[in-house]
Amino acid sequence: MTTNMEIVSFIRRAFLQPDGLIPLHAPKFSGNERKYVLDAIDSTFVSSVGAYVTRFEAMMVEITGGGYAIATVNGTAALHLALMIAGVSEGDEVITQPLTFVATANAVRMAGGTPIFIDVDKDTLGMSPASLEDFLSTCCANTAEGCINKTTGKRVAACVPMHTFGFPLRIDQISGICQQYGIALIEDAAESLGSFYKGQHTGTFGLMGAFSFNGNKTVTCGGGGAIITSDDQIARKARHLSTTAKIPHVWEYDHDEIGYNYRMPNLNAAMACAQLEQLPAFLENKRKLANLYRDFFSKKNISYVDELPEAKANYWLNALMFDDQSQKESFLADSNANGVMTRPIWKLMNKLGMYKDCQAYNLVNAEWLEQRVVNIPSSVR
Ligand SMILES: Cc1ncc(COP(=O)(O)O)c(C=O)c1O
Repeated sequence: MTTNMEIVSFIRRAFLQPDGLIPLHAPKFSGNERKYVLDAIDSTFVSSVGAYVTRFEAMMVEITGGGYAIATVNGTAALHLALMIAGVSEGDEVITQPLTFVATANAVRMAGGTPIFIDVDKDTLGMSPASLEDFLSTCCANTAEGCINKTTGKRVAACVPMHTFGFPLRIDQISGICQQYGIALIEDAAESLGSFYKGQHTGTFGLMGAFSFNGNKTVTCGGGGAIITSDDQIARKARHLSTTAKIPHVWEYDHDEIGYNYRMPNLNAAMACAQLEQLPAFLENKRKLANLYRDFFSKKNISYVDELPEAKANYWLNALMFDDQSQKESFLADSNANGVMTRPIWKLMNKLGMYKDCQAYNLVNAEWLEQRVVNIPSSVR
C-alpha cells in the first residue's frame, strides 16, 4: 500500500522542491505583467475605463470563441449580474450543485433566488444530467408561467452548473435539458478558463458563462471576472449594469436603473492581458504535471480525477479520490504537516447554515465525493 509520505515525496520531486512549502496553487508572473501595469499607471487610467479593459475583453472573446466578453471586478459579480440579466429575482429558484465554492450559491441569493441542490457525477464532479432530468421530471411542471417546482410552487428560473477544478461536465446534455424545460442556463466557468467540451470552450453553452481571475486561478489579475455571451442585447445590458447603469453622456449624470460598480479596473485588466498571453504555455505546463500525476497514481492504484475522453481540462487543480474519509483525513494531516499544501473538496453547500433549508435532491454522489476528494499542488511549474 502506498504511504502518505510516498505521495508527499512524489509531489516534491514533481515540483523539484525537496524542502519548503509547496502551495496548492501559486500565480506565475513571467510575462508582461509589470510592463503593462506600469503602462496603465503612466496612462493615469487606472479605474474602469482604459485600453486594457477593452483589450482584455477582446482576448477573452478570442480565447473562448464566445461572441462578447464583459470584464467584471470578480467572478462573483459576473455570476450575480448574469443571474439578474437572466431574469432571476426575489422568489425564484435556481438549480445548482452542492459541490461548489460558496460563491455560486451566494450569487443566487444576491440575485434574490433560492438555490436547489441536485447531484453531481462521480467522474466529472460537476452537475449530473441524469439528476437534473430526474429532478425536473419528478418535482417540476412545465406551465405557461415557466417551469414550476411542485414542492414549493416557485418558478425555477435558471440552472447553474459548475466545471469543478476545470474538469468539463456533460454540459451539452445539461444544455439540452434546460432548453426542454425553458430554464436559463448560466455556466459557472470560474475555474475552467482553457477547458473545452467536445471542442467548445466551457462557459459558452448557455445564455452566459462567468469566469474568475482570482489569485488562485490559472490566470489571475488579483481580482477579476468576466461574463461571456453570444447575445448582443445581453452583452449591452451586462456592460450597462456593471457601470452603475449610467446613460452615456459627456457630462450628465443620468442612470436609468439601479446599477453596480462591477467593472474591472484598468489596472487589473493590464495584468490580466499579460496573463492571458501566457495561457497556452500555462495550459501545456499544467498538462505535463497532470501526466506525471496520472502515471504515478495509476501505478499506485490511487484514484486520480481526470478529464472525460470528449473533454479537454485545464487541470487547474489536480484531485485525488481516497477510498474513505479516514484515508482522506490522514493524507491531509500528513501532507500539510510536511509542507505540501493539500485541501479537501468543499463542504457541501446544503450543509452550510445559510443554505441548510434549501431543497437538496438525492445527493448520493456529492456526499460520497465530499468524504474522499483532496486537491494536491497544481501550480504552473
Ligand atoms: C466555482 C467558483 N465560482 C465562483 C467563484 C468566484 O470568483 P471570485 O473569487 O473571482 O469572486 C470562484 C472562485 O473564487 C469559484 O471557484
